[in-house]
Amino acid sequence: MKIAVLPGDGIGPEIMAEARKVLAALDLPGVILWEGDVGGIGYRRHGQPLPPETLEMARAADAVLFGAVGDPACDGLERHLRPEQAILGLRTALGLFANLRPATMFPGLEDLSGLRPEIAREIDLLIVRELNGDVYFGEKAIRTLDDGRRQGFDFMSYAEDEVRRIAHVGFRAAQGRKGRLCSVDKANVLETSQLWRDVVIEVSAEYPDVELTHMYVDNAAMQLVRNPGQFDTVVTGNLFGDILSDQASMCVGSIGLLASASLGESQTEFGTKGLYEPIHGSAPDIAGTGKANPMAMILSAAMMLRHSFGREADATRIETAVAQALADGVKGADLGGGAGTVEIGDEVLARL
Ligand code: NAI
Ligand code: MG
Repeated sequence: MKIAVLPGDGIGPEIMAEARKVLAALDLPGVILWEGDVGGIGYRRHGQPLPPETLEMARAADAVLFGAVGDPACDGLERHLRPEQAILGLRTALGLFANLRPATMFPGLEDLSGLRPEIAREIDLLIVRELNGDVYFGEKAIRTLDDGRRQGFDFMSYAEDEVRRIAHVGFRAAQGRKGRLCSVDKANVLETSQLWRDVVIEVSAEYPDVELTHMYVDNAAMQLVRNPGQFDTVVTGNLFGDILSDQASMCVGSIGLLASASLGESQTEFGTKGLYEPIHGSAPDIAGTGKANPMAMILSAAMMLRHSFGREADATRIETAVAQALADGVKGADLGGGAGTVEIGDEVLARL
């Protein structure tokens, strides 16, 4: 188990230390941890946000555990030197095309959701978002028409192999959950979505144990707020997934609790090569104060054990310990509590 640990900037190193503590306590067999510089610290030490030695380390590893990048001191730099380029560079270089964002309501936190507590209580879903295609990657331009008006356009496309591979990720994820997959598209008006739907249905033949449904994206946005408990696993394209995954995560409450995985083709002995990170950024406003909630980082490590190393039992152990700590009232400042970074790490550790 070779893991590239990339703490990054701001609160990144602080929360990563707690995740490492938890991993160390699990006594994993043959685990090798490498640590590399990325983001603003990469720029300061090596002149680049994604130094070649860090990229090499990430390529050689079975999984990447990523803290956060972003440093206000780098704001004036040219775009390609900014810390945030590191995460984009890693996604591209490692071919990470599937973004997994679980959103689960932790008992005791229902009041912190933007939704009514009785509705929030039901949230336990996973969004599988395609990350490498769609309208974000098509030809784009602002051109001037013959009559002088300016027109912006972005070309939206999906090739069937791009849909097929993300569909497989969605079905496999659903198999590991409650066995229900909802494919979200806009097939009533978009040809890309019609192809998406056709391919997802075709792939479903290989997963007779998964119940497949389809939903238009506008309805999905409404249903996520009206009755999120109806969703188990959702698979969708890059644009729709960008919006729906942000929406779903905020239904849960704090940004300090939400983990994510970005997966590529199967490249390891156990499962899929992936990059695991909290959904939040480097939080420069609280960096160095010891107030950052490390739970999202710890839960990202759990996702890594599940998806890259097939260690479901260890992943569940970590997730249960976090849920237990929250239920016992261990809350960081982001949840209106007083527990600091190290204390939260210790409390999770004590419940492993
Ligand atoms: P942010 O997520 O870093 O912070 C937003 C707010 O949430 C802040 O008030 C922060 O204190 C709080 N917060 C975030 N994580 C927390 C945690 N674990 N515990 C307690 N409170 C937490 O987003 P912001 O402020 O927009 O961006 C800061 C920097 O992070 C920027 O440079 C941005 O580009 C970068 N960023 C990096 C990401 C990544 O590495 N994947 C993702 C998002 C932003
Ligand atoms: Mg987004």
